[in-house]
Amino acid sequence: MTVTAGVVIAGGLAACGSSSSDSGGSSGSGGSGGSGDITMGFAQVGAESGWRTANTKSVQAAAKEAGVDLKFSDAQQKQENQIKAIRSYIQQKVDVIAFSPVVETGWDTVLQEAKRAKIPVILTDRAVDSDDTSLYKTFLGSDFVVEGQKAGQWVVDNADTNDVDKNGSINVVEITGTTGAAPAIDRKEGFEDKISADPSIKIIASQTGDFTRDGGKKVMEAFLKSQKDIDLVYAHNDDEGLGAIEAIEAAGMKPGVDIKIVTVDAVKDGMTALSEGKINYIVECNPLLGPQLMELAKKVTAGEDVPERVVTKETAFDQEQAKQVLADRQY
Ligand code: AHR
Repeated sequence: MTVTAGVVIAGGLAACGSSSSDSGGSSGSGGSGGSGDITMGFAQVGAESGWRTANTKSVQAAAKEAGVDLKFSDAQQKQENQIKAIRSYIQQKVDVIAFSPVVETGWDTVLQEAKRAKIPVILTDRAVDSDDTSLYKTFLGSDFVVEGQKAGQWVVDNADTNDVDKNGSINVVEITGTTGAAPAIDRKEGFEDKISADPSIKIIASQTGDFTRDGGKKVMEAFLKSQKDIDLVYAHNDDEGLGAIEAIEAAGMKPGVDIKIVTVDAVKDGMTALSEGKINYIVECNPLLGPQLMELAKKVTAGEDVPERVVTKETAFDQEQAKQVLADRQY
């Protein structure tokens, strides 16, 4: 992460609208329907998770609401597809490019091309790792290190109950997000930072589930075969945690009881599992970035100053808190 100064803008701003989700690394109008003054090219990561679907809907609905012409592409979690989409937006001379980089590194060349074409770029959701901060105008999204810290702190604060087999050590298996992605790197860092305060908590295995349910299930199946005495799963998103639940149940154990589960996101499926006691704690990551993105797009295309970092405001939920908010959860 290269940007530091920031402002916090409250999340939960927009209701989700209808969406036509493109796939196959394809580009399209993405259902914005608007013929506004501003044309935005948006290069989405993919459709890997419930969080991502909610994020896409938020961007598409907010573009329509703001009268922004949205060109939307789904990169299917492949950096080369995102780079192709950005190059196509440059060729089409859009007014602004927004994208959520699938991985942190490898963006300088294409971002320099956008800069030479005088097209401003907004990073949304995920950051790039580049020394040249002039390549983008602002970064809107969560603080993933803080998210990992919240998860780790909960494990430390509840060490007694998290030591499921009461043998004096808490064996954690970690299902990480997409390798090289900002949330995977930062959530690991934040979690490790907090659990280092308690030497009885150890990560005994760590493997990527690529932020998908299927990935989480497969990784958990492998952990159950290779690891003894697992007390807790730390999954970098709800979908991976939901996949882990399937694997734990298939192995004849009770998720949330025999093996504790902590995840990040707080999408409806995750919150439902939390309220049922199958997940024990969820750190929120807010996907409803569309309205803030459109506000920033209007400002940068008008040549106005914007903060270099806009951090999304988020919370975390235990079982009781999940029960209270579940009915009103939008996504
Ligand atoms: O970048 C945000 C992360 O990407 C979300 O936590 C995850 O669900 C998504 O795929």
